Amino acid sequence: MSTTAVGEVLIDEPTLRQRVEELGEEISADYEGRELLLVGVLKGAVFFMADLMRQLSVPCEIDFMAISSYGEGTDSSGVVRILKDLDGNIEGRHVLVLEDIIDTGLTLSYLMRNLGAREPASLEVCALLVKHGRLESDVPVKYIGFEIPNKFVIGYGLDFAERYRNLPHVAVLREEP
Ligand code: IMP
Ligand code: MG
Repeated sequence: MSTTAVGEVLIDEPTLRQRVEELGEEISADYEGRELLLVGVLKGAVFFMADLMRQLSVPCEIDFMAISSYGEGTDSSGVVRILKDLDGNIEGRHVLVLEDIIDTGLTLSYLMRNLGAREPASLEVCALLVKHGRLESDVPVKYIGFEIPNKFVIGYGLDFAERYRNLPHVAVLREEP
């Protein structure tokens, strides 16, 4: 049996706050004069979404989708399942998908094909974290909070087997024998 613990802090709280503010300004400027629908990917993006939305100056609404790709492990399986669909119709809307983290991009690639088929007026992605050099799909990610090394991270919404989402910073998961 191995146990897990919180390892090195990769991104501390003030750094997260500062970057979310910058993203908020950038997105507000880009979407000026339009109404935005933020689509949060449950559950990890909820924390980022709540903070980012409060930095937006354009009119915006939220909706959520839940998809599963990992089960309880730390490796992407590429197999995606919709656990909860959007409440509303996105046809003709300006949609910005909010993700906590993009690793291989396989989850996102599936999601973008699925949402794109519903004919939104525009469809972009904002990810808090992207793992450096890991992207296997060609999905363009318009807004990126931070590029991080290829390590399994937890906190600020990110979980390992549903735990550690409540950490105020992003840390590396440490596996102990
Ligand atoms: P992808 O399909 O490989 O891009 O995996 C994306 C999804 O896997 C994310 O939305 C997360 O839910 C989860 N994930 C990927 N890497 C990590 C990590 O380092 N910590 C926690 N969850 C992760
Ligand atoms: Mg997860």
